[in-house]
Amino acid sequence: MRMNQQAFQFQHSESLDFCDLLAEFDQFGSRSIFEKPGDIPYFINEFWTARQRQASNLHEVSYRACFKPQLPRFFIDRLTEPGDLVYDPFMGRGTTLIEAGLAGRVPLGNDSNPLSRILAGPRLKPIDLTAIQVRLAEIPFGQFPPPASEELLVFYHPETLADLQGLRGWLLDRQASGQMDDVDRWIQMVAINRLTGHSSGFFSVYTLPPNQAVSVKRQAIINQKRNQSPPRRDIPTLIMKKSRQLLKEGGMPDAKARLYCGPADQTRQIADDSIALTVTSPPFLDVVDYQADNWLRCWFAGIEVETVAISHYKKLEDWQDFVRRSLTELARITRPGGHIAFEVGEVRGGKILLEEAVIAAAQNLPLDLLAVMINQQDFTKTANCWGVSNNSKGTNSNRIVIFRKSN
Ligand SMILES: C[S@@+](CC[C@H](N)C(=O)[O-])C[C@H]1O[C@@H](n2cnc3c(N)ncnc32)[C@H](O)[C@@H]1O
Repeated sequence: MRMNQQAFQFQHSESLDFCDLLAEFDQFGSRSIFEKPGDIPYFINEFWTARQRQASNLHEVSYRACFKPQLPRFFIDRLTEPGDLVYDPFMGRGTTLIEAGLAGRVPLGNDSNPLSRILAGPRLKPIDLTAIQVRLAEIPFGQFPPPASEELLVFYHPETLADLQGLRGWLLDRQASGQMDDVDRWIQMVAINRLTGHSSGFFSVYTLPPNQAVSVKRQAIINQKRNQSPPRRDIPTLIMKKSRQLLKEGGMPDAKARLYCGPADQTRQIADDSIALTVTSPPFLDVVDYQADNWLRCWFAGIEVETVAISHYKKLEDWQDFVRRSLTELARITRPGGHIAFEVGEVRGGKILLEEAVIAAAQNLPLDLLAVMINQQDFTKTANCWGVSNNSKGTNSNRIVIFRKSN
């Protein structure tokens, strides 16, 4: 069911501006396709792409199900002005916040996992490479007393593990005594990012990519299959190397970011009618197990994984209720005329279209539905958009529901 691009009608003139922009978008060579199945306006195009300008290196901290920096940037550039508040209630590694800060907006973020604040916070402030080097020279690597956890020897050479425990002990002590500063936080963030991975740039022996640590048992099997044992790694050198990469373009100007840790539907610290734009993606049903994936990172940061309330829903109705609670809170804090770009991936082989559940969840809230955007590289294959032969394994194309807070 394809419609003429001029044929769609919207109630608000501001809404029309953004929808016009989507309809006319042709930056990557093709005009958008407009469809309106079941009265929901869809725009399908390659709105952002790998061929686009390289995003800042500051993003290069891996996290499960993070989105490309070009996604939040698309909305930040078009729907906000410098100084506006840009928010992500499920911030993960902080992709939206970093783009907001780099664009001169004020980033605001929240996530129920404290790890998220540890990963995002340090990259939202200016930091000096020399200060990192000086601090690393002060840290008593390898000399810290706590006994090595035998289990972790499947990942680390015994001396690397001693160094790692030295670093962990130092950081947790500084935190407990209130001495932890921005330099410590930066080192903690980089170390967490280097804990495990599949190259010599990580502290561990070869394992899965860094955003999902396998269990000890599984790593023992990987070691056996590959006939490998953990090599000695130089932790301070690897931390400096990664810091240089992250700060290649000079880092972040002081973005005055505010970060919270808690459920997305309870953010009383954020004032009514204050947010210009939210760009976010919630956990998609039970696709990613953030707790299991992050066990080693949480260990290093001294976070008890079991205490982290990460939403995980198997049934679509339960997920929709959770989305409704989150949207209710977003409707409270978004300023009239402000926007919400709510991204959901493709799940269950495209058999469930999560955007439909998001739209149903917003019923009777003071939010106007503007459109659903589908960012798809090979977007001429529209049948794919409706789940006919979608990616069964992942969430390769982005499906984004755009709301505007009613005036
Ligand atoms: C899809 S990820 C977001 C990734 C993010 N867009 C990025 O680029 O890094 C979803 C995040 O939601 C968080 N989360 C899960 N349940 C939550 C809840 N009820 N409230 C707030 N955050 C939650 C998870 O910890 C995870 O970081």
